[in-house]
Amino acid sequence: MTRDAKPSPLTLVIFGASGDLAKRKLIPAIYNLYKSKYLPEDFVILGVSRSKLSDDDFRGRVFHDAGFIDFESEDQSKVDEFARRLFYQAIDTSSSDDYGLVKERMDSLAVEFKTGDDAIFYLSTPPVLYDKIPRFLADHGLHRAENGYRRLVVEKPFGTSLASAKELNRSLLEFFPEDEIYRIDHYLGKETVQNLLITRFANGVFEPLWNRNYIHHVEITNAENIGVGSRGGYYDKSGALRDMLQNHLMQVVAHVAMEPPIAPDAVSIRKEKSKLFESLRPIKEADVAKFAIRGQYTSSRVKGELVKGYREEDGVPDDSKTETFAALKFYIDNWRWAGVPFYVRTGKCLPTKVTEVTITFKQPPHMLFRRRHEGFENGYNQLVLRIQPDEGLLLNVGMKIPGEGFHVKNVGMDFHYSDLVDESDVPEAYGRLLLDCMRGDATLYAHGDSVENCWEFVEPILNAWENDPTIPVYGYPAGTWGPDVADDMIEPEELEWRSPCRRLTDDTSFCEL
Ligand code: BG6
Repeated sequence: MTRDAKPSPLTLVIFGASGDLAKRKLIPAIYNLYKSKYLPEDFVILGVSRSKLSDDDFRGRVFHDAGFIDFESEDQSKVDEFARRLFYQAIDTSSSDDYGLVKERMDSLAVEFKTGDDAIFYLSTPPVLYDKIPRFLADHGLHRAENGYRRLVVEKPFGTSLASAKELNRSLLEFFPEDEIYRIDHYLGKETVQNLLITRFANGVFEPLWNRNYIHHVEITNAENIGVGSRGGYYDKSGALRDMLQNHLMQVVAHVAMEPPIAPDAVSIRKEKSKLFESLRPIKEADVAKFAIRGQYTSSRVKGELVKGYREEDGVPDDSKTETFAALKFYIDNWRWAGVPFYVRTGKCLPTKVTEVTITFKQPPHMLFRRRHEGFENGYNQLVLRIQPDEGLLLNVGMKIPGEGFHVKNVGMDFHYSDLVDESDVPEAYGRLLLDCMRGDATLYAHGDSVENCWEFVEPILNAWENDPTIPVYGYPAGTWGPDVADDMIEPEELEWRSPCRRLTDDTSFCEL
């Protein structure tokens, strides 16, 4: 990121400011941007929500026990400087009249901090308010400004079904044009998700191979080693497919599979993503059992500790059928990917926290040499693109084992992001995305059409899971890689999911358990 293109002076209004996201992610991310001099001198933050707090209460709250920054060990003069730009307004967010208070506060802060007319409204509230807040802002003329922009940042979930996503898009568009709506998907803010595009489109070595002629299949694994914790109430209405797959992982699929955009800008990338999502072969409700597997973690001992099962978590009903694990197999019906299966899995309470993409290349046309049967020795080269943690890239290639004969062993060539950058200078996802929004760059935000396309794709699966009692919810012991049946998804039989460990290059047979 460059500090040269500083955004113009602005007011950032955060709705839902007394909530968890503001405290754990947004305020620390903005502070980091401020400290690292990415922000203009003239900027101010106005937190808005229902809790009755003074400006000082709000500051105390967001600085205490914050997310990834320990404000107490920061340079206190910087923290004070930042705090002087932080304000709070309590309102009843579901009453239009109260938005008059927001307007008054914005007007006076704009004069005091010389921020002019530019403003961003960040919706970090429960989704029921998503269609109200833009309307109430408009009631007070806050959605437009004569001499500046008015942008709306919306947190997920963007609907819970195709119909609700369409309705949400329609209602947002009533007051803000599409190019001023920024649907945030924090996976798009991850450096390594962006790096998928660089890997593909900046390297002559991969580009010719990136298609059905050379790629056997594509795997995407997203694993978390913790359960739903205190979010049981939310999660039970959501499940793995809605929470992770429909949004974050489908964006990763788009980066792996879309056609090259004509330029690396928002319009060109969005166009290619839309085309890709439109090419997804629909999974019919009747075929869901064949292409999708759902699971739920059950109680087990992980490293000697007893871990609760999902149904024992707070806020989760005893008979819940919500999936904490989902695995899909699907196809992309276009020229590049015809016949290449894509496998995507995500789950809570798996053995480790990891997200990675594995491209498995086809075998050579004729197997000349004998391979040792240990580890991954079956003649398929793999390229692993590690999104987190230990971000990097690993290419498995066959090499001759020194000595007599021609025996082949697969070895890994690896690159770790940590070798390339000073990690303290890499903004985390929220910081990166917020800065882009301030600069008016929507490249890394989700377009309304793509969101609808992805809902359209997952909806038959959700419907079948909801309506067909014959489709099992497989239990899997916490700390394992999900239901056994998911292991058999990858074809042919000799192949299986790559079993990732915390470190990119760990021996694949070793995991945290
Ligand atoms: C969120 C989901 O969007 O992403 C959470 O709601 C999940 O359930 C989180 O834990 C994962 O994000 P990350 O960046 O830790 O992979």
